[in-house]
Amino acid sequence: MEVEKLAESLARRAGKLLKDNFAGVRSVEFKGAVDIVTEMDKKAEELIVGGILEKFPDHGILAEEGGEVIGSAPFRWIIDPLDGTTNYSHGYPVFCVSIGVEKNGEIICGVVFDPMQDEFFSASLGGGAFLNGKKISVSSTESLDTALLATGFPYDIRTNKDNNIDCFARFALKSQALRRAGAAALDLANTAAGRFDGFWELRLKPWDVAAGVLIVREAGGSVTGLSGAEFEIGDGNIVASNGLIHLEMTSVIEGF
Ligand code: IPD
Ligand code: CA
Ligand code: CA
Repeated sequence: MEVEKLAESLARRAGKLLKDNFAGVRSVEFKGAVDIVTEMDKKAEELIVGGILEKFPDHGILAEEGGEVIGSAPFRWIIDPLDGTTNYSHGYPVFCVSIGVEKNGEIICGVVFDPMQDEFFSASLGGGAFLNGKKISVSSTESLDTALLATGFPYDIRTNKDNNIDCFARFALKSQALRRAGAAALDLANTAAGRFDGFWELRLKPWDVAAGVLIVREAGGSVTGLSGAEFEIGDGNIVASNGLIHLEMTSVIEGF
């Protein structure tokens, strides 16, 4: 399908751009107390958005750094040109490009590309999930006790008490181990690949999750809101897991 091919080629091109410039000195602007943007976030986004509009000028776009383009076609591209920008700006090599494509409001295609590991995660609705072309599936870990989990913290951590620290402490005591790698789209992709057994986070943006949610589901996993109710892309509170530990995860989040 045209859309999938273009999503792959743009994610790969943007990822190469990020990798090629990884060692360079870059300017950083602060969007909030700890929320930053580098010139490479913007350059990667320009490359992706330019490539979409050249091929599909009537498609809609929601991209982190550039806001929204309303299209006349039923397609909308949801783009995080650099997920893990704090890692990138510190020279910690954990980041990715994430592109999800919606048709009539439903995600039909998702790609997450980690250029440092040369790992390309992809899924299409009903077509399964893949890592570098090989089918992937979620883990078979049956209990939280032996689960490796991933999470992150919202950018308003210093000012909003609902900042995941309580939950983090509870999971630290109940799981085998926790990781805060710093790139939500990659956390989701790694959950789909069975490396993490579960992931949760608060107040993520549509571009953090659009691709990863489809990749987890197509890999056989479950994705819901924090209480186990249906996940809403606009809400951004998310629990993603192998399905087997999902109820245990939502119970811990709810404080039981
Ligand atoms: C952030 C990363 C991080 C998560 C934050 C996100 P950015 O995205 O995904 O892991 O904890 O909530 O905003 O700013 O690096 O694109
Ligand atoms: Ca992000
Ligand atoms: Ca970003």
